[in-house]
Amino acid sequence: MTTYRPEKADELIKTAKAMVAPGKSILAIDESNGTCNKRFEAVGIDATEQKRREYRELLLTTPNLEEYVSGAILYDETIRQSAADGKSFIDVMRERGQVVGIKVDTGAKPLAGSDGEKVTEGLDGLRERLAEYYEMGARFAKWRAVIAIDTAKGLPSRGCIEANAHALARYAALCQEAGLVPIIEPEVLIDGDHDIATCERVTEEELNEVFRQLYHQNVMLEGVILKTSMVISAKNAANRAGVDEVADRTVETLLRTVPAALGGVVFLSGGQGVEESSAHLNAMHTRHGDHLPWPLTFSYARAIQGPALNFWKGEPANVEEAQKRAFTRAKYNGLASLGKYSEDMEGA
Ligand code: 13P
Repeated sequence: MTTYRPEKADELIKTAKAMVAPGKSILAIDESNGTCNKRFEAVGIDATEQKRREYRELLLTTPNLEEYVSGAILYDETIRQSAADGKSFIDVMRERGQVVGIKVDTGAKPLAGSDGEKVTEGLDGLRERLAEYYEMGARFAKWRAVIAIDTAKGLPSRGCIEANAHALARYAALCQEAGLVPIIEPEVLIDGDHDIATCERVTEEELNEVFRQLYHQNVMLEGVILKTSMVISAKNAANRAGVDEVADRTVETLLRTVPAALGGVVFLSGGQGVEESSAHLNAMHTRHGDHLPWPLTFSYARAIQGPALNFWKGEPANVEEAQKRAFTRAKYNGLASLGKYSEDMEGA
């Protein structure tokens, strides 16, 4: 334990443990309205508040989802919405024993003085917003920073890594003061053509900086969840690394950089395919499950929602089958977090 203990330390530790309970993890459905609308438009669904509400209801009321999903990250619009029967989404989740989470950053904005990099904003007024969300029933929060790799330009820059890590640490300290477990999400983007060794080097540098900043801001690691990208070849890389290499390099990088006291580590899917996301997580457990100091599981958005969204298409008649598809991905990733997933399950 650090020498500093936030007032709500015990509650934070309890919340973090519930979020990453064995075989379960966090569903990300915190797309901003802009991002959600883009995903809707791609499959021909009207980009309206009504459709966003219906879609979040479909996901949150998926039968038995709580077997594999301990909680969900919501967006500000969603945390204020209700199911068609009038029950608030917060109550829908609490009745299933799930922890309510909320995205609190206000987005990645151009970093001044940089060649196209971004810094995530949202610290202004954050203390007051966190107090409101806690009062409403939220018990954890999320802040995403994006680190882009561009080998031709020599990016990421040190300035981008430091600015984002500092903001993550300031956010995390405010969350713990308010009684919310911070999910800190420094995402190294999969875009580009860099190789896996480059991703490994950048991920290592960025995680080292994040934990240095958390230390300086007196953040209690036992009450923090790291949400990270995997160490993986870029989308357009030549000779992309296979499943075992991704699993090995990811776990080795995390072991080198993430203190053992941390509450847990979860992955974003970041544009990986749905089956790939399950296979990678599973391989980390089959190959390294006996020497991991923290719970290691998933917090996917696209890798869980994708098949459901594509099937739903905004049609009430498709809700039941879409829910089955969401449940299947949650189940497979829950099994993967125990090393019990197998590719043979796909298409069964
Ligand atoms: P993906 O799993 O789609 O990358 O989303 C995770 C997330 O929370 C992005 O912030």
